[in-house]
Amino acid sequence: MHIPDYREARTRDKRDYKRVGFTFDKSIINKYCGKKYFIKTYGCQMNERDSETISALLEQLGFTKVDDYLSADLVLLNTCSIRENAHNKAFGMLGRLKHLKNEKKSLIIGISGCMAQENSVVSEILQNYPFVNFVVGTHNLYQLPDIIDKAIKDNSQEIEVFSREGDLYEGLPVIRSNPYKAFVNIIYGCDKFCTYCVVPYTRGRERSRKKEDILQEIDGLIQDGYKEVTLLGQNVNAYGKDLYDDYNLGNLLEDIAQKDIPRIRFMTSHPWDFTDKMIEVIGKYSNIMPSVHLPVQSGSSRILRLMGRRYTRESYLELFHKIKKIVPGVTISTDIIVGFPGESEEDFLETLSLVEECKYDNAFTFIFSAREGTPAAKLEDSVSLKEKEERLHRLNEVVNYYFLENNKALEGKVVKVLVEGISEKKNMYFGYSDTNKLINFSCEKKLQPGDIVDVLIVSAKTWSLDGKCE
Ligand code: 5AD
Ligand code: SF4
Repeated sequence: MHIPDYREARTRDKRDYKRVGFTFDKSIINKYCGKKYFIKTYGCQMNERDSETISALLEQLGFTKVDDYLSADLVLLNTCSIRENAHNKAFGMLGRLKHLKNEKKSLIIGISGCMAQENSVVSEILQNYPFVNFVVGTHNLYQLPDIIDKAIKDNSQEIEVFSREGDLYEGLPVIRSNPYKAFVNIIYGCDKFCTYCVVPYTRGRERSRKKEDILQEIDGLIQDGYKEVTLLGQNVNAYGKDLYDDYNLGNLLEDIAQKDIPRIRFMTSHPWDFTDKMIEVIGKYSNIMPSVHLPVQSGSSRILRLMGRRYTRESYLELFHKIKKIVPGVTISTDIIVGFPGESEEDFLETLSLVEECKYDNAFTFIFSAREGTPAAKLEDSVSLKEKEERLHRLNEVVNYYFLENNKALEGKVVKVLVEGISEKKNMYFGYSDTNKLINFSCEKKLQPGDIVDVLIVSAKTWSLDGKCE
């Protein structure tokens, strides 16, 4: 049994980590043929990508996927720690699974993802959730087949979570959920330690994948007919810093852009280390999509300092306008937290005025959620929940206003859309534009998912646009 410990998770040193090729223990391949599994994924794209690897590992064990947990023999919750409601959702699901297990004693229940890295969660499971069969952390997913096999064979509760990142595994299998759009991890972990954020504790220090491994993965995706790759990392802008002296995200984007892949995206970018080289490369290549996610979190420099964000309102705005100027037609989206401990009405008004200036194309807005073990959780918080909810409401009104205004500016324009499928509205296709807007559209011609087509925008809504194929 290995139980996580945040004090250890917080440590950062120059310790070398190895790159290891993954091999599957042949003796357990197809051992569980005929058994069914269900995965519930919470949280971000990193978790979605991890679930694609979990699926592949389970299928090598012989499990087949089902979409309904009631019919599964194994249920895995791939969890998220970022805010309390993600926590609550996972524990709510565990409550439902407890009842199911009372009726179906052979049901195997497992937990992976960021909550598995939290000491308090693991303690809670040890004390109150004896029916959970296994917990596997974010740093040792490669052990999942052995952990499951042991939990089943020995009828034991397996808790295997490393507090610190170990070696970096290459060659883990993957079953991708979309045949045209792929997530590609480029860097794991985060060293920024924003004071509100749990990620540096749950995902470890920044570790980049080697450029050769990334480029090889992308070559494989191109051969398989993929049209879009999204480069993933908690902070992609730190790519390469731990590995190379003179190769960073700008260089990587440029190397990928020269390949025959129509669409390249990347997320998430911390404003602090967004280099001029990156902006120049994004502007230069037409297959790097003009869409940047640039979380601001707050418009008040005082709050940004308390958040440990390492930039000010002014330096953020300077970067924002530089990207807008150099990348033609770029859309910028953001994340904003309201109600950080001690946020005054004046601080909040600064966030509103920043939104008025940036007129974001998309924004994810949240109420601050105290995460155990983070510095911000210890700050005195004088703002009431009611006040925070009101601020969120006021903020959403402003961001939504600009979503619609920006979308309306597209009426009568032609945008390129990667077709994903038929939308719920009869006879309408749907897909995303270069600038990452959801487009529902009609088309006389028969289209296939994966096609990239020109669509004339006919009418704008707040969160989507309607159009017709040229
Ligand atoms: N409370 C509220 N929102 C948070 N985020 C991260 N940590 C917290 C927290 N403790 C938000 C940030 C981040 C996004 C992924 O989630 O805005 O950019
Ligand atoms: Fe949630 Fe962050 Fe973990 Fe993603 S990395 S699952 S957002 S806590």
